[in-house]
Amino acid sequence: GLDISALLKETGDVTLDTGFVNTASCSSAITFIDGDKGILRYRGYPIEQLAEHSNFLETTYLLIYGKLPTAQEFAAFDAKVRRHTLLHEDLKLFFNGFPRDAHPMPVLSSAVSALSTFYQDSLDPFDPDQVEISTFRLLAKLPTIAAYAYKKSVGQPFLYPDNSLSVTENFLRMTFGFPAEPYELDPVVVKGLDLLLLLHADHEQNCSTSTVRLVGSSQANMFASISAGINALFGPLHGGANQQVLEMLGALHSSGEDPQAFMTKIKNKETNQRLMGFGHRVYKNYDPRASIIKATADEILGKLGADDPLLEIAKRLEEIALADDYFVERRLYPNVDFYTGLIYKAMGFPTRMFTVLFALGRLPGWIAQWREMINDPATKIGRPRQVYIGEAARDYIAMTDR
Ligand code: ACO
Repeated sequence: GLDISALLKETGDVTLDTGFVNTASCSSAITFIDGDKGILRYRGYPIEQLAEHSNFLETTYLLIYGKLPTAQEFAAFDAKVRRHTLLHEDLKLFFNGFPRDAHPMPVLSSAVSALSTFYQDSLDPFDPDQVEISTFRLLAKLPTIAAYAYKKSVGQPFLYPDNSLSVTENFLRMTFGFPAEPYELDPVVVKGLDLLLLLHADHEQNCSTSTVRLVGSSQANMFASISAGINALFGPLHGGANQQVLEMLGALHSSGEDPQAFMTKIKNKETNQRLMGFGHRVYKNYDPRASIIKATADEILGKLGADDPLLEIAKRLEEIALADDYFVERRLYPNVDFYTGLIYKAMGFPTRMFTVLFALGRLPGWIAQWREMINDPATKIGRPRQVYIGEAARDYIAMTDR
């Protein structure tokens, strides 16, 4: 009901773009998305090729440094990440302060924020050496923090990292292993998790990444900016959706509700619930990450011997949506979150860890974007304008006269 053009005249040259649907906040050379065609490229490389030939750590290098590493560069990068996996013993104590049933996402963001108290020597955003060391600290320590957050939530002892293992292997061992007991890595799980992390590694100016850039634009350090990004990711409309998808599928399974009836309720808006894992601000076509994940879901679940009835329900919901005018007209397709939860579940992760896994995957993107932002001479502090719609000027009235 607002007459925006009249307001624009009154407020001067500002544009009202709620949710930034059509406003670019920066220029970036990292990730390309064509939402109509369903194209995603990191530094020019199609996501499908990276999924097939690369791995999470190599893609991390690509996002941050803008090129694929040579064998030597990769080995040096890998060695450096492995060297920084340990947490300060005092940071370990930090976990004791949280309640036993703490959700691991706020634990993760709090611990990342706390890193800036442990590494006060590397907080200058304009010192390239300090930025570099913070990069390695984050890449190496976030998996350790995530595994500790998990161990805390199940009341099990923490495991120190084993730096003979890759990032992904180390994370799995710290999450599911026990001290002084050998942990046998399942190659299907290692490969599957590595692929999922790679597929999440960047997605240009989404809510969490924009948050990282906005906080960083005030020249706040990388730990502070990325901690803010983790909190943004926790929301159910963003990274939190992967947990919600599985809860939705689980509820449908246990209630025995007919998927068609459930979908009808959603499209008639008889419920506040949306079809979680569907729809995307940019993709108005099948999310290319979801295509890869759907194809691997069957394979991984099959190899892990996890015959999950929830996968059937998910496929049925997708089938209904793709043939339904409501979803077709609004161009709502499965997004990255629709099938990931089923794979994480088959790997043994509890639903509360799903968004943490998203954060582990997205970290290279946050780092690459923060670094691009800080090095871009065009960067200014992020400070959106507004269209004021409140009261016009009026005089204060004494309390006795109101
Ligand atoms: N289920 C049902 N209806 C939907 C859904 C959905 N998942 N998504 C959008 N719609 C409908 C809206 O109700 C609206 O319909 P209307 O015009 O009749 O009111 C229309 O589609 C447009 O929706 P918007 O909310 O304007 O789209 P927006 O671009 O703002 O939202 C979002 C995108 C948040 C992803 C949305 O599709 C959604 O809520 N999806 C479910 C949550 C989810 O899966 N989030 C993960 C996103 S991907 C990621 O972060 C990795």
